[in-house]
Parts: sequence; C-alpha cells; structure tokens
Amino acid sequence: MRDAGYVWGDASTGSAASPEAGVAASSRMIEFLIAADLVTTLGQIATSVNHRLRGPLTSMKGMAQIIDLGLADREMAKRYAKKIIVEIDRLDHMLSQVLFLTDQQRCVPQPVNLHEIVDEVLLLVQAQAALQAVTISRAYATDIPEIPCDARRIKQAVLNLVVNALQAMPDGGELSITTSLNSYSHKHKGDKGGANKHKEGAEIHIAFKDSGPGVPRSLMTRIFTPFFTTKKDGTGLGLTVARHIAQAHGGNVELKRSPGPGALFVMSLPAAPRPRELQGFQGLNSDSV
Ligand SMILES: Nc1ncnc2c1ncn2[C@@H]1O[C@H](COP(=O)(O)OP(=O)(O)OP(=O)(O)O)[C@@H](O)[C@H]1O
Ligand SMILES: [Mg+2]
Repeated sequence: MRDAGYVWGDASTGSAASPEAGVAASSRMIEFLIAADLVTTLGQIATSVNHRLRGPLTSMKGMAQIIDLGLADREMAKRYAKKIIVEIDRLDHMLSQVLFLTDQQRCVPQPVNLHEIVDEVLLLVQAQAALQAVTISRAYATDIPEIPCDARRIKQAVLNLVVNALQAMPDGGELSITTSLNSYSHKHKGDKGGANKHKEGAEIHIAFKDSGPGVPRSLMTRIFTPFFTTKKDGTGLGLTVARHIAQAHGGNVELKRSPGPGALFVMSLPAAPRPRELQGFQGLNSDSV
C-alpha cells in the first residue's frame, strides 16, 4: 500500500483532529494526490488517446462517407451503422475512464460505508451477471469503519474490478467479494538516512475473487499499464483507473494471486486518516492546492 504518511511528511504536533477536520484534511489529501499524479499521467494519456481516437474516427468517417455517397446497399448500410454504434460506445467508455484519470473536479469526501458502495455496484451488474450465470457472494466483515472518501470515485474503482471479473467468466462462474480490516506494523527508513521509524495502522481490504482463467504469469506485470488490454473491445484503462483512484486515497489495487484458479484483486484503503498525518498534510497543502 502506498504510504500516505510518507507523502505528508513530518508532523510534529500530534493533537487529535475533530471528525470535521479529518474530513476536510482528507479532501485536501485526495486532491493533492490526484493533482500530483496528474502531471505525469496527463502527458501519457493525451498521446495515447490521440493515437487511439484517430483509427476508429477515420474508419467511422469512411463508413459514413460510403453511406452518404449512396455506395452501400441497405444491408451494408445497416452493418456499417452497427459498427459505428459499437465504436461510439467504445470511445464513450474510453473517454469516461480517461475523465476519471484527469478529473479535477473537487473531491467530496464524506464518511462512506464501503459495503453500501459495493452493494450499489452489484445492483448495477446483477442483470449482466444473471445473463452470464455468474453467482456473486459477499462476505462482509462486521468491523469495517466508515471512512472519509470520494464515494463517486471509489464506486467507479469497484465497478471496474467487478466488470473485469464478469468479463473473465463469459460462460458462468463465481465472484466472491470479501472485506476485512487488517492492522499492519512495520519499520521504514527515516528521511535522509535518519533513524528508522515505526509505522502502524489499519487498512480495509476489499477482495474480488473470480473463477475465471486468471491472469497468465507473463501478463501479471503489464495489466496495470494504461491501455494494456487483451480484449477485443477493451480500452485497457479499467485497472489503471481503479488503482489511480485507490492510490489517491492512500491505498492501492493489486493482483494478489494468479495464474488460476481465477484471479484475486485486492483494493486496500486506509481505515482512518491519522491525526499526525493530517496535521502534516494541512501544513503542506494550505497554499499548494
Ligand atoms: N479478473 C480478471 N481475470 C483475468 N484477467 C483480467 C482480470 N482483470 C483484468 N484482467 C486482464 O487485465 C487486462 C487489463 O484490464 P483493464 O480493466 O485495465 O482493461 P480492459 O478490461 O481490457 O478494458 P477496459 O478499459 O474496458 O476495462 C485485461 O484486458 C485482462 O487481460
Ligand atoms: Mg476492465
């Protein structure tokens, strides 16, 4: 998991923050992280999007011109129209994913119940899951706290992982979604070779385990690369967006176990922004955000 504590640096005053201050500071933390990632991400995706838009646009224009010139019979015109609709849907999907990477809209972190977010996503996909004969089971831990986060973005991240799981099981299977609260404790090097620091805290894990073919070993390091896809109609942005959103909240998305049976992706999120980090964060970002 990316360590939000490193980002926000030293906090000499460790006084407890109020819940309101915690939410406000989390808002700035999320915005800062999104802005920091944006600089590198934007350049890469502008080039890729340009590249990926041109091909489909040229072929759509060609088909439309053939229809316009009356060179296509009724059947052919119908076929072209269908192809154009599929391409438009694909480009529409790609653009909405890109917007999640570049989105500078203000974050609205509110105390969020992650289980409710997962449930909302499952409502969205239940018809598709039934169509594919995919059974979805949930095992929610009872000790998961509400956390301040941007519900809209987290929902998109969860949706991307669930959709991937469904797409991996076109002929049926099982998707199990499990949540857990995990404490961690580790040492890390202090700044500029300073003394080792001890770090401990808790993070929430949302695990998505499917019974599809899993991710081949040869692809495991590539699947989080923007625009990497093995799907005919994929844009290769789903995992990039999911990870980007989780990291902007101080968490991560990782592929835990693969190849098969199935794939296991885990989204981790900090269980609570710590007052020490929030203090450091407030000082760091009061001018820069
Ligand atoms: N649950 C899964 N099981 C097997 N392979 C997976 C799974 N999730 C992701 N992958 C692999 O990772 C690749 C990248 O996934 P990602 O979600 O980023 O893009 P995509 O699904 O191909 O396209 P889209 O942008 O529409 O999401 C997929 O093409 C697929 O090869
Ligand atoms: Mg995907």
